Amino acid sequence: MTEQDFIPKTYTNAIENGSFTWASPSNIALVKYWGKKEHQIPENPSISFTLNNCKTTTTVSFSKKDDSNAFSFDVFLDGEKKDDFKPKIETFFKRVAVYLPFLKNYHFKIETSNTFPHSSGIASSASGMSALALCLMSIEKELIEPDGISSTVEESHFIKKASFLARLGSGSACRSLEGDLVVWGMHDGIKGSSDLYGVKYPFEVHQNFKNYQDTILLVDKGEKQVSSTVGHNLMFGHPFAQERFKQANKNLSDMVSILKDGDLDAFIALVESEALTLHAMMMTSMPYFILMKPNTLHIINKIWAFRQQTNSKVCFTLDAGANVHVLYPEQEATSVLEFIENELVAYCQNGQYICDVIGLGANKL
Ligand code: DP6
Repeated sequence: MTEQDFIPKTYTNAIENGSFTWASPSNIALVKYWGKKEHQIPENPSISFTLNNCKTTTTVSFSKKDDSNAFSFDVFLDGEKKDDFKPKIETFFKRVAVYLPFLKNYHFKIETSNTFPHSSGIASSASGMSALALCLMSIEKELIEPDGISSTVEESHFIKKASFLARLGSGSACRSLEGDLVVWGMHDGIKGSSDLYGVKYPFEVHQNFKNYQDTILLVDKGEKQVSSTVGHNLMFGHPFAQERFKQANKNLSDMVSILKDGDLDAFIALVESEALTLHAMMMTSMPYFILMKPNTLHIINKIWAFRQQTNSKVCFTLDAGANVHVLYPEQEATSVLEFIENELVAYCQNGQYICDVIGLGANKL
């Protein structure tokens, strides 16, 4: 498929107003997306676990306006008007306008809320942009299909296009639509994979990964030191960039066998190495950044010690920040949670952490 396939032909249905609500989850990458080309095309493929509890719920209400000169919208977070969110959404609207030609014909009220605390250091861009993309797709669907009847093909196009649009809002958002494991970015060994949208992981996954747990330790809730756009740009002219992109491709190939065989030791090694490589890229770029905090390192060392002492299969991954995602199999849920309570909570800001588990994707409400 190409970008052109996402430009709709005609809208047959005239609608004055309406409203749609979607809840969409966040996701945590196992093989990381870090570095992008123009138009939000990733430099390497990535794969993520979809989360279940960290979600954004968004309602988009729309009403026809007289002119179609400009975008018109208001944004609310937890009922409070948020004008500082507008520039990001305006940029998103500009990027997707050619694919959603109705955008200038309506005024939109965008009401959003997160299940996780705002500015907790948990990125709301993946869940937020995917929820918004889904609401806009629901509007488009109504403009195209007055009877609301859709074939399977149209259903799959709906999700694909929602993922395509979400990507234009925030790259990792395209991995938050459908499926517990999602691949984004062209990879030779994964049929159907695309740089344009995320796809459900198509291969066998071992029972060991069923209901995999993710406890997010909130180490630093402050504003992000480096925005993701600035971060991705650091990969331009980065001395290790090409090797890193190659490595991510190889890691994704290796991940396919790991997921099939249920090899938890290999999983741990790959996932932790990916997290540290992401941070190593930031430490070795120009300008350079250290996004871990002392407590991030304390937690990592504690996890390594616990693993050695107990033979647990707990491991960690990181986003572009100081918070730690602690990943572990469902059967270790009780013992690892006890370990977190006893040994790791002390390193969290205000003792805060969020328990999550792999989920299946977004829901229409
Ligand atoms: C470190 O998706 O937030 O979380 O495309 O600029 O919005 P933009 O970036 P974003 O980058 C996320 C990077 C990451 C790794 C990952 O999720 O794969």
